[in-house]
This record gives sequence, C-alpha cells and structure tokens, in this order.
Amino acid sequence: MKVLITGGKGQLGIELLRQLYEKEGAYKIMSTNHDTLDITDLEKVKQVLLSKQPDIVINCAAHTAVDRCEQDIEDAYRVNALGAKHLAIACEVIGAKLVHISTDYVFEGNNPEPRREDDKAAPQSIYGSSKLLGEEYVKTFCKKHFILRIDWLYGEGNNFVKTMLKLAETHKELNVVDDQIGSPTSTKDLAGVIIALMQTAYYGTYHATCEGQCSWHDFACMIFALKHIDIKVNPITSKEFVSLAKRPRFSVLDNFMLKLYGLNHFRHWEEALRDYLENEEASSGEI
Ligand SMILES: NC(=O)c1ccc[n+]([C@@H]2O[C@H](COP(=O)([O-])OP(=O)(O)OC[C@H]3O[C@@H](n4cnc5c(N)ncnc54)[C@H](OP(=O)(O)O)[C@@H]3O)[C@@H](O)[C@H]2O)c1
Repeated sequence: MKVLITGGKGQLGIELLRQLYEKEGAYKIMSTNHDTLDITDLEKVKQVLLSKQPDIVINCAAHTAVDRCEQDIEDAYRVNALGAKHLAIACEVIGAKLVHISTDYVFEGNNPEPRREDDKAAPQSIYGSSKLLGEEYVKTFCKKHFILRIDWLYGEGNNFVKTMLKLAETHKELNVVDDQIGSPTSTKDLAGVIIALMQTAYYGTYHATCEGQCSWHDFACMIFALKHIDIKVNPITSKEFVSLAKRPRFSVLDNFMLKLYGLNHFRHWEEALRDYLENEEASSGEI
C-alpha cells in the first residue's frame, strides 16, 4: 500500500513516518514537505499525486501559527483551505483515500460539554475558520475522506511541553492560563489511530484526542511534576494573557465516532504524557 504524507517535517508528520517505517514492508512511504510539495500549488499537487499514485494521502501540512493567522489571513486560507481542497481534488482523480487533520478551533468553545462530531461548528479565529473551510472542501471534493479533529498536540517539534521545559531552565516562576480546558494529545497515540482508521472504509469526520481533560495550568503542573522540576506555576486568566487570536475556552472533544467503531485507542492524557517524557529522557540521554 502506497502512503504519501504532506507536511512530513511537522510534529505529526514525523511521528507518522516513524510508525509507518516500523511496520516494515507493509507500506511504501512517500514523505513530502513544504519544500518538495507546497500544497497551495494545485498543478504541483496534481503532478505529484498523478505520477506517484498513492493509495492514501495523509495531510499533515497546515499553517499552524494561530496568532500569526490573524494577520496572515490570505496565507492561512491558502494553506488550510485551498491546500486541503487541492489534495482533495487530486485524491478524487486517482481514487486515493485522503486523511485530513483538523482542529478543536472549529468550535466556539463556550459550552462546557465535550463536543461531538455532529455539533455545530462556529470558529472564533482565522485559523479555525480557515481549517473549517478546509474540512468543507475535503468533504465536497473527495468521497473517500477521513477528517480528524484534534486538540493540544505534542510530539517532536515545537509544542507546549517543550516550551514549558525550556522556560523552566531560566525561570523560577511561570504564569499559565487556567481558564482554557482541553485534552493534551500525543502524536504517538494519534498516529496509531490514523494508521488503524485509514485502512478501513469508515469514511467521515472524527474527533481524535487523548482521554481526560485539564487546563493549560494543570498540564504545565503535570509536566513539571513528572520531570521533578521545582517551579512555581501561577494560574492566570485568558484576559491576563494577551494574544491576537481568540481561543476556545472549552476545547474538549468526545471521540464519539471512534468509540462507535471500536477504534478509540487513545490513552488518558496523563499516561501518554508520562510515556512521552520518559522517552524524551531516554533519547536525550538525560538521567
Ligand atoms: N499543534 C496543535 O496543537 C494542533 C491542534 C489541533 C490541530 N492541529 C492540526 O494538526 C495538524 C498537524 O499539526 P502539527 O502540530 O504537526 O503542525 P506543525 O508541526 O506546525 O507542522 C505543519 C507542517 O506543515 C508544513 N507546511 C506549512 N505550509 C505548507 C504548505 N503550503 N505546503 C506543504 N507543507 C506546509 C510546515 O512546514 P514549514 O514549517 O516548513 O512551513 C510544517 O512542517 C495540522 O493540520 C494542524 O492544524 C494541530
């Protein structure tokens, strides 16, 4: 089975490649990145997909800088909406399945109930709106699609866990937002679910996050506790932490459809985080 990945140098792309390569021989893997396949270029997308003829395309490419999207509006839509559309058009032509990654930011996030796949989307930011339009294009242009909405992702690359650990090297005290709730999600768990789901014909939209929920403040405290780092973490409100993009207060997603198909293989976020930090230590040689 031939699998082509876009955005292969991003957090999720790196982990997917790692897991696909581990399944020796089961997949012919084609990794592309921003330099080798810019998804905003329809002709290039068509040329690469028509020549490589993948059975499955996994779109990990996105404009993920949420605050920058508020200013780079055209760029955000070009990558997150048009890029997804180009892949959908090309996948339909060659009959490939398209796995597309979306976000909790498609929801308003004011209601403190986990969101299900059929709940009404109401994005509050350019990033969220551009990702929602990307979802709509994928549904419109490619029959064999899987859309996975995810939450607070961390893996290899820039993410909240790495930022907290870096800040702890130079600070004795940190202020972290305590009134936004979500589900920290490990790329390891997410990649495993994607690989299981993409082999099925259960096309549609899925919520795909680790189990449990916490605030950014809880998340930070757990990172420091697991790493035995002595640091004071002050809870602050979103109003005190000024940012360009409006963020959902309550970002928890219910993996309802994955549960119906028996494919909700996500661990609790604390267990996944412990595993991630232990492996980080092992690979960095820290003791
Ligand atoms: N990170 C989160 O917390 C989070 C939460 C919810 C949803 N998501 C979604 O999950 C997916 C994966 O996120 P991630 O954290 O792995 O993202 P990431 O680490 O920022 O990786 C995104 C990759 O896309 C590439 N890219 C950007 N524009 C491109 C273009 N025009 N053509 C091809 N590649 C392009 C980037 O390359 P350059 O760096 O070279 O530009 C980067 O390697 C994205 O769809 C994101 O929207 C992420």
